[in-house]
Formats: sequence, structure tokens, C-alpha cells
Amino acid sequence: MHTRLLILWGRTLAVLVPCLAAAQEAAPSAPAKVEQVYAQHCAACHGDHLDGGLGGSLIDGDWQRGGTDTAIARAIAGGNPDMGMPAFLGTLSPDQRRALVIYIREQEALAAQKRTPPPVPSPESITHTQHHDYRIQTVVADGLQTPWSLAFLPDGRNLVTERAGGLRVMAADGALQPDPVRGTPEVVAHGQGGMLAVAAHPAFATNGWIYLGFSEGWRVAGRPFCITAIARGRILDNQWVDHQWIYRAERRFHTGAGVHFGTRIVFRDGDIFFVVGERGGGMEAQDLTRPNGKIFRLRDDGRVPEDNPFVGTPGAVPGIWSYGHRNPQGLALAPRNGDLYATEHGPRGGDELNLIKRGGNYGWPVITYGMNYDGTPMTALTAMGGMEQPVAYWTPSIAACGLAFYTGDRFTKWNGDLFTGSLKAQELRRLRLIDRQVVEQEIILKNIGRVRDVVCGPDGYLYVVLNEPDRIVRLVPAE
Ligand code: HEC
Repeated sequence: MHTRLLILWGRTLAVLVPCLAAAQEAAPSAPAKVEQVYAQHCAACHGDHLDGGLGGSLIDGDWQRGGTDTAIARAIAGGNPDMGMPAFLGTLSPDQRRALVIYIREQEALAAQKRTPPPVPSPESITHTQHHDYRIQTVVADGLQTPWSLAFLPDGRNLVTERAGGLRVMAADGALQPDPVRGTPEVVAHGQGGMLAVAAHPAFATNGWIYLGFSEGWRVAGRPFCITAIARGRILDNQWVDHQWIYRAERRFHTGAGVHFGTRIVFRDGDIFFVVGERGGGMEAQDLTRPNGKIFRLRDDGRVPEDNPFVGTPGAVPGIWSYGHRNPQGLALAPRNGDLYATEHGPRGGDELNLIKRGGNYGWPVITYGMNYDGTPMTALTAMGGMEQPVAYWTPSIAACGLAFYTGDRFTKWNGDLFTGSLKAQELRRLRLIDRQVVEQEIILKNIGRVRDVVCGPDGYLYVVLNEPDRIVRLVPAE
């Protein structure tokens, strides 16, 4: 509410009172970056690299006051003048103090990984983790360009999307069909968009349906206009046939933005769930009359279920299941109870794991655990009534992408654990959930490429789709 008022007030000023321009120029310049704020107010005591001086180290994991975000925020605001820590309540704004917490968390995590480097697997050796030792095997070494997602078919074949537009069939032994499937829907491969998600219908063995999620649209004089769409079809002799649109946004929602397409597709009880990313639209994620920044639920043939949460809301897009999302690119169903989980990319800091509830508002961009990429603060608000809190969040951002529950029988101690990939941090992480809380979190592999997707294969191995270099590997038990 507060944010919205500020925005409106800002706009009114800009539109109605242009003569204030001169006064505005005299106003304080662009907000300071967190690195500058730290250097100016903290470095003298806590060190240029946060490793301590007059004040203690902020990156050794050793906290006097407990080390939660709240405890750190309280230390900064209230200080401890008796011990030489000034209070910054009056000097720094709430969002500057919040950005400092994020910055300290980033630096602390970097230092922790330097002290205890996460496992970097190599094909020659065994990699040790908390519950299982594994070997890494390369399934597809080359021939793929920015593979994005992987789907197993019950007949032993696999499907792989390539972001530039390809859908490739792969034999069970990893041999790629040399040509992409012909006649797949045209994609607008713009920025982060392109051919993204692929999924096989749970009854594929009898109905043959393949679902695709991609950026759809057109170009005018080379300029793209696009947004995420979902279609289904069948593959016959390496040809896309029986094409049907499942979800396609109205023309007015297509934009030139190259970011935040979301996607991923999961099936539950005859319905499909998928993501339309916020497309850089910020507050549009809060607007139920727009499709961007939403998770959708439709029948598997594209019809809107009558009990969707906003079918009765005037003007709302009826397919919406939850909103206030930035860019979720991981979606998975808990095998035990059908809970729907999504991971989403935050800005700088604040990537989230969310339990997706019917009609839930996940808060972007009103609340976030992140700040702007350039280190300027976004908001001090991390929680608000009527908005959902994440089950877990990552600061620093890992750039979460791909999400799967392990349901195989090769890694028995991982059964039911959740695996998330990560682009920027180049990690595969394992999360154990009990009662919808993360009770264990472990980096299973790191630094062998950007992890775009993770899938539990029907053979019980864990498949990982990597970019830069582009390939598919799998984890097999080493015991
Ligand atoms: C004049 C020196 C000084 C400056 C400037 C200073 N600190 Fe401190 N800080 C200290 C000292 C000394 C302590 C330990 C006091 C205590 O026991 O609470 C401390 C404690 C802290 C703690 C609590 C650490 C823990 O173990 O729980 C945090 C967090 C912190 N400072 C952050 C900051 C940040 C962020 C800034 C800049 C905005 C800053 N400090 C500026 C001296 C300083």
C-alpha cells in the first residue's frame, strides 16, 4: 500500500509539476550502492573485506547475536554503543539497512564456500556427499545448443528442448536424433525466451500428448513481441502433429522484454500447472488482469477449471492459480501428498522456494528478500499481511532453475528429497523437507556448468541438464 502511494505520488509530481525539475535535480542523487554504504559506514571497523578489525568479522559464521537476518538488522539499527558499535537507525534508511544485511549474507556465503569448497565432481573420481557417494556420467556430450529441459517417455526415449527453438528426441542410451522434430511451434527466441519447457502427459502411453512451453509472438521490422505460451501435440516420424494451443495470451500482453518467461509444466489430477514469468513488468505481477507474474492452472486440454480462485473476480485472467511471482523456473509436485512447489529467481538476493497455494499472493515486487542488481536497495519489506512467505530463500541468489523430487530407488537415502538446479552459482542442491520445512540443505555438485534442469529418471538416476558447456549428465551411486 505504502509503495503504491509513493509511486502514484511520484507520477503526479512528474506529470503535473514539471517546473519542479530544477528542484528535483538538487535533491539527493541516485541511491547509494550497498558497497559504497558499507565502505563509508562500516569498513573502518569491520574491515574492507568484512573480515574484522575493531569490530568482529562479519563473514566467519561466528555471530554474537545469533546471526539471523533479524539479529543482524537489529545490530545495525540499534548498535551496541557500550561495545563500540554505533546505532545506524538515524543515519541509514530501512532499505539501506536491509541491503546491508543482504550484502553481509552474500559475503558470508562466499567466505563459507572458500573455507569448505562444495564438491566439484569429475568423471574419474567418486564424489562424496552427506548420504550418498556418486559418480558422474556423461549422457550427451555434444550436439545440443542451450538444452533447457528434459522429459522421459515411457517407451524409453527422452525429449530435450533447445532454447533457440529445437525439440530433440533422444534414445534411452543418449543417442540424439540428428534432426530436431519438424513442424514444432515457432518460437520467438528473444533474450531468455525460446523453446523452454517440455513435458509428457501422465497418460502419454495411451494418448501420446507432449506439452511445450515457449515464448510465442511475432516480429515487426525485426523487433520481437512475445510472451510465454503452452501448446500440445504428438510426435509422429519426427514430425510435430495434432498441434493444439493450451494457453496463449491476448495480443496486448506481448512485449519486447527479453526477460522472465518462467515456464515449466507439471500435471496433477487432470490439470496442468505452468508459469508465465513477470516479463520485467514489476507491479504487473500483482495485477490479476494480466497474465505475467502468475502460476496458471488449466485442464490438460486448456479449459479453465470452474473452481480456479479468480474466475469470479471481474477482469481477472481466469487461468490464474497464484500471483505475485517474479520468474519461477522450477515446478515440482511432492510425491507423497501432491503439494506444488516452485522456485523463483529473485533480484540480487532473495531467490525463493515457495509452496504454491490456491489464490496465494507471493509478494513480488512489494516484498522481497533481495535488492537491485546494482546494489541499490529495493525495499526493506520482506513480509506483509496477505502475502505468502517462502519456505526457503537464497541470499546470495543461486539463480534457481529446474526442480525435481527424487522418487527413484537407486539413492534410497535421497528418497523424497527435493533437488534444485542453479544457473549462476552452478550448483545442484538437495533439500530435505519435513512438514513443509527445509530441515537439510546440501550442495551436491558445483562448478561444472550452469544447471538448467534436473530430472529423476525412470531408471532411478538423477539427470542434470547443463549449459556452458551444453550437455546432459547423470548421477549414479558409487557404493
Ligand atoms: C566504530 C566501529 C564500528 C562501526 C563503524 C561499525 N561497527 Fe559493527 N560492530 C562494532 C563492534 C565493536 C561490534 C561488536 C559489538 C557487540 O558485541 O555488539 C559490532 C557488531 C556488529 C554486528 C553484530 C555482530 C555479531 O556478531 O552479532 C553487526 C551485524 C555489525 N556490527 C554490522 C555493522 C555494519 C553493517 C556497520 C556499518 C553500517 C557497522 N557494523 C559499523 C564496531 C563497529
